[in-house]
Amino acid sequence: MTTQPVSTTTEVLIPQIDWQSEEFHSGIDRAVAAIADHQRGPGIARSQRGIEVVAYEAAAEIVKNTDFTLGMAARLDSRGVEGTATRGAFLNFLFSRDGQEHLRARKACAPWFASSSAERVRGHVSEWLDSWLDEAASQSNDYDFLGGIANRLPSTLFCLLVGAPLTDAPLVAHLSQECMLTSAPPQPDHPDRLEIAATLTTAYLLGLAELRRQQPGDDLLSFLVAAQDRGEIDLDDILAVVFNALVGSTDTTSAQICCNAEALAANPEQWQLLKQEPDRVPHAVTELMRYNPGAWSITRSSRTATTYKGLDITPDDIIFPDIFAANNDPAVFEDPRRLDITRPHPKPPLNFGAGVHGCLGRMFSLLEQEEVLRAMLRRWDSYEVLEAEFTGAMFFLVPQKLRVSFTATSAQS
Ligand code: HEM
Repeated sequence: MTTQPVSTTTEVLIPQIDWQSEEFHSGIDRAVAAIADHQRGPGIARSQRGIEVVAYEAAAEIVKNTDFTLGMAARLDSRGVEGTATRGAFLNFLFSRDGQEHLRARKACAPWFASSSAERVRGHVSEWLDSWLDEAASQSNDYDFLGGIANRLPSTLFCLLVGAPLTDAPLVAHLSQECMLTSAPPQPDHPDRLEIAATLTTAYLLGLAELRRQQPGDDLLSFLVAAQDRGEIDLDDILAVVFNALVGSTDTTSAQICCNAEALAANPEQWQLLKQEPDRVPHAVTELMRYNPGAWSITRSSRTATTYKGLDITPDDIIFPDIFAANNDPAVFEDPRRLDITRPHPKPPLNFGAGVHGCLGRMFSLLEQEEVLRAMLRRWDSYEVLEAEFTGAMFFLVPQKLRVSFTATSAQS
């Protein structure tokens, strides 16, 4: 991979970490232990990929600081991504945009993302989960939770959100997985795969926008197409939102659903508490996201050459506010490696970012995670993880396998 050397005209002593080493690739407990000493003081460390921000306050500060951007250009450059379709699509994303360009598109779609839109889909999500868990009833000894639930739900919901046929869900899941290569540890074949995925996804979404123009509904695309017809936004703004939503909603939520299931299985007393007090589900989801995040880091780059915590940096340097570390900073979350669905959160866990680019779809993701838990609690007395495999540590976890066995509740068996 291409590394991102940080300029050091000012010599500042900051700790070094090796993000490729075993300690960052064998589960979050070891990764958190490996950065614990660096969370005091400026709260940063240097790694081969850039600057790691590992303290909660420092990570929250840089995520909200508008002198820094998501750094998509630096991210694509560092991966040798030169394809026109990839660069055109990814640099246009809502979270890659700045200033007026960002504000116009965000203002146009924000009313639709309000929580009432999320509540309108809750019933559908719950029905789908019930029917999928019905299918699972005969596989209690070995159930493919990843294929049966986690990978299926977010892509199906995305189809509903943009007014696509629900049968497009496998295509959406595939396109999203390929596009998410920009957030994976870099590999030589990624630029070509990304170019194909960006071309196909753009064509798919443009075709869908045209269909929604002819047959409007109450979906996000119809809402945006109407705003375009009123002259408030253009087609690039529409793509900025829906392409971003496709890539940002599908694999992120799949991974988080798997991380939640894995963490609860490892903490059966917390599962039992939820069985007794299911009203705790919404707070439990926030705690599960804090404790076992699917997305480990986000990225930032400075707009101009500047100094960051004593380091001279340029727009080519990539800074990684590390969610896995910030969410486990003992200065904010007492005894952070204890999963406790009753604990207060003095500050919000950073999974959904913060500030002007804070996640627009968080209500949808939260309701998906909540409904998955509720469906499991309704149908299963207990469950165990038979096999779990995740790749992508330090960037964004990609579940490769999650197989469980479960004991159905007596009403179900
Ligand atoms: C567990 C699931 C999710 C996680 C962890 C997540 C995380 C994030 C984060 C960290 C950001 C801010 C990026 C930055 O500042 O660099 C963001 C932005 C965004 N997310 Fe999510 N997200 C999730 C689910 C969703 C869903 C379900 C949707 C849509 C239905 C969505 C749509 C968006 C959009 C459109 C933005 C861009 C907002 C802007 O730039 O103004 N996300 N998300």
